[in-house]
Amino acid sequence: MLAIHATGRKSRIRPRFVHRSLEPARVTTSRSNFIAGVSAAATAVAVEGKPAFAAQTLASAATRNHRFFGSAVRVDQLDNEPDLRGVAVRECTYVVPEVEMNWNAIEPFYGQLAFEKVDALVDFAGSNHKLLRGHTLLWHLGTPGWAFEMLRERRDWALIERHFGSLIGRYGSVIEQWEVVNEPIDVGYRLDGLRETIFLEAFGPDYIARALTQARALAPRAQLLINEYGLEYDVAEERERRYLLLKLLERLRRANVPLDALGVQGHLDLRKGHVSQPAIGRFLEDVAGLGLAIVVTELDVKEADYVATAEQRDRLVADEVRRYLDVVLAHGAVAGVTTWGLSDRHSWLLVMPEDYARFPGAWKDGSGPGLNRGLPFDSSMRPKPMYDAIREAFSAARSRN
Ligand code: G3I
Repeated sequence: MLAIHATGRKSRIRPRFVHRSLEPARVTTSRSNFIAGVSAAATAVAVEGKPAFAAQTLASAATRNHRFFGSAVRVDQLDNEPDLRGVAVRECTYVVPEVEMNWNAIEPFYGQLAFEKVDALVDFAGSNHKLLRGHTLLWHLGTPGWAFEMLRERRDWALIERHFGSLIGRYGSVIEQWEVVNEPIDVGYRLDGLRETIFLEAFGPDYIARALTQARALAPRAQLLINEYGLEYDVAEERERRYLLLKLLERLRRANVPLDALGVQGHLDLRKGHVSQPAIGRFLEDVAGLGLAIVVTELDVKEADYVATAEQRDRLVADEVRRYLDVVLAHGAVAGVTTWGLSDRHSWLLVMPEDYARFPGAWKDGSGPGLNRGLPFDSSMRPKPMYDAIREAFSAARSRN
């Protein structure tokens, strides 16, 4: 058994790092490593004594492919919704806290640390053999107001060190991947493409290298990620973002900054048309060429056509996911996929007033289009064609090893 450092509270999670999910991209896998990896991964999907490969779940399809599948989850939903919990247990090898680990959730007021929800997720992961990704250490939108003010006034790195220390100090032994910096690029403002956040303002462009170095010092065995969105379409903004992000990654690699992987969020959007397979393929090739692994961290689909039938809408979503994963999983550097939620009833993607406005008069009877249908399970937790698309993409892709 392993003590969580800060409180001495016992966790049911055993020391991890048996399943180094990004490792094949970094080292040549020997036969013994390979066998150890397969058996660890098989253990990860075995639930309550059932054989690991009894059914083709997303977890087993990914594991057979030497990759992982998982999802963002919310602790209160896992606790209160048994059907969601069951699906998460059955389908995921990875779980990611959707909001609970953000700085503004962990420390909403200075010095008042709220670890209960993440502790509960750690327990869930431990009892169900799930791996955990830490989302997210530094994110401008996940930073509490008090920290903004202090960083602006003092420009004191000790605040960042303290925040990393409290999260990694408590969860470092059970978290395999940390998203160290989330969404650092912003197109159209600075030549270096860095988003004008409080971190840039307080510490200058070096804050990303400092954050990664700090994280490595505290979590020497974890995989460290930069996570970014808006990288999928052949439109000017996304071309620019891919370019600027690549330049950032090149600078970090040249300076030997500890960085293991790029997280590509994968928020697909049918309003933008179709993902560009050539652009994605070239970009992933360039990222992998820098010696980095790649993880799809937040896959989901915003719909464009809310007036079609549910069957048609589900088909459009699934086709787009297939188009995306076919090119992504063709790449050996891609270690796995997590969706941003499992069921449409939990999605952050909502049908917005502007969506209604695009279809004037479509819902005269007041019925409306229901929920956005961009996740693998519908609101009754029934698998949709997107589920099949993910599973088939794993099955069709060349195995990672
Ligand atoms: O917990 C409070 C609750 O107490 C309060 O009553 C309620 C009133 O609005 O708000 C609740 O907080 C909300 C939180 O989700 C938990 O439900 C926040 O307002 C809301 O902003 C927050 O949204 C999350 C958002 O990140 C910001 O943290 C979304 O659920 C989450 O899906 C979204 O995820 C982001 C990733 O972290 C980064 N990449 C983009 C992705 C989608 O935006």
